[in-house]
Amino acid sequence: MRLLRTVCKTSVRFLSTRARPLRVLGIETSCDDTSAAIVTSDRQILAEVVRGQQEMHEPMGGIVPTLASKGHSRNLPGVICETLELAGLTIGDLDAIAVTRGPGLPPCLPVGLNAAKTLAAVSKKPLIGVHHMEAHALTARLTTDNDLNQPSPAFPFMTLLISGGHTLLLTANKIGDYDQLGTTLDNAVGEAIDKTARLLRLDWLKGRRGGPGAALERAALKGDPERFMSRLPKPMLERNKYVMAFSFSGLKSAVARLIEVEKLVDLDNPQDVSDIAASFQLICIQHIEQKLSIALKQELIENKKPLTALVVSGGVASNTLFRTRLGALAGSYNLPLICPPPQLCTDNGVMIAWAGLERFQAGLIDDYTITTLPKWPIDSLKFRID
Ligand code: KG4
Ligand code: ZN
Repeated sequence: MRLLRTVCKTSVRFLSTRARPLRVLGIETSCDDTSAAIVTSDRQILAEVVRGQQEMHEPMGGIVPTLASKGHSRNLPGVICETLELAGLTIGDLDAIAVTRGPGLPPCLPVGLNAAKTLAAVSKKPLIGVHHMEAHALTARLTTDNDLNQPSPAFPFMTLLISGGHTLLLTANKIGDYDQLGTTLDNAVGEAIDKTARLLRLDWLKGRRGGPGAALERAALKGDPERFMSRLPKPMLERNKYVMAFSFSGLKSAVARLIEVEKLVDLDNPQDVSDIAASFQLICIQHIEQKLSIALKQELIENKKPLTALVVSGGVASNTLFRTRLGALAGSYNLPLICPPPQLCTDNGVMIAWAGLERFQAGLIDDYTITTLPKWPIDSLKFRID
C-alpha cells in the first residue's frame, strides 16, 4: 500500500509538470482477442497489436471460454513485447498501465489483469482497471472515422453500446459516471447475430473484422429484407412498446423455427439465406431505433439534458447498415452520430489504453490488489470497488 501511495503521489506531480504527452499501455483479454496498445494524451496511437483466435473457436461454432483463456496465456507476453517494440518504448517510458478488469469471460480476464499488475508493480507505475464497456464508449473521444478533426464528443452524450455481451443504452455524464437507460432482457444483439449466423451455417469472415457478425452482414447485402419480414416477430412493439429494454432471443428463435420447423428457408439456397439474413438484420436495427427514440426524447425533451452527440460503439457498430440508419436517427434529433472507426468498434487494446488514460487524467488509479469483475454493472462505476 505504501508503495502504491508513493506511486500515486509521483504520478500526480508528474501530471502537473510533464513536458511531453502521457503514454499509457492498454491490455485487453476479456473475450477472444488478445490485444495491447499504447496511446498518448495528444490522441496518438503509438502501437497496437491484436491477436485473434478465430481458428480455435470457429470449428467449435462459438467462443469456448477455457480455450480462449489458454490462447491469451499463450499470446499475451508476445503481444505486449511486440507492442512496446513497435512503439520503440520500454516499460520505463510509460506513465501508466491499463487493463480490462471486467466485464468479460471469467477464465480470460485474470490473464490480462495479472500481467498488468505484475508489470505495474515491478515498474512502479500506476495501474488502472478499466470497465470494458466504458472503454467502448470512450474510444469515440480518441478518434472517429467521420472526420479526424472533429472534436471529441463532450459530456454529456448518449451512448449505445452493441456487442457480443451487451446491448446498453446510457447517458455518459462524465468519466466513470453513466446512467443506464436500457439493457437487454435476454440475448445481447451481437449474441443473437452470432447465433443466427450459426443457424444459417455462414462461414466466418477471416481477419480483424471477421467473425459471424461480419459474415451475416455480407450475406444480408444480397438479400431482400421484405421477403421474410411478415413472418418474423417485431420485439417489444405491442404490449411493451414503451418499456425501455431490448429483447432479441424471440427473434433469433423465430429464425430457427422458419428454418427447422416451417422449412421456409432452404439453407442450400443462397438467396433464401441472404433474404432471411437481411430481414433479421433489419428487424434488429428497427428494434434498436424504436427504443433509442424513446430514450432520446426522454433525455432531450423531458429531462432537458444538453446531449452533444449519439455515440455508438461495440463490435456490432462496425455494421454499415446500423451505422447508416443510426446516423439518420441521430440527425433527426439534431445530434451528430459519432462512431469509432470499424476496427476500433470490435475489441482492441487501443480502447483500453485510451479509457485508462482518461481515468488516469481524472485521478482514478487502482491498487495492485484489485481482482477481476466478470459481471460489473456500468452504473456502479460511480462507486469505487476494490
Ligand atoms: O465488442 P466486441 O468485439 O466483443 C464484445 O465485447 O462482445 O463485439 C463482438 C460482436 C460479435 O457478436 C460480432 O459478431 C459482432 O460484434 N460484430 C458484428 C459485425 N462485426 C462484429 N455484428 C454485425 N455486423 C458486423 N459487421
Ligand atoms: Zn467489446
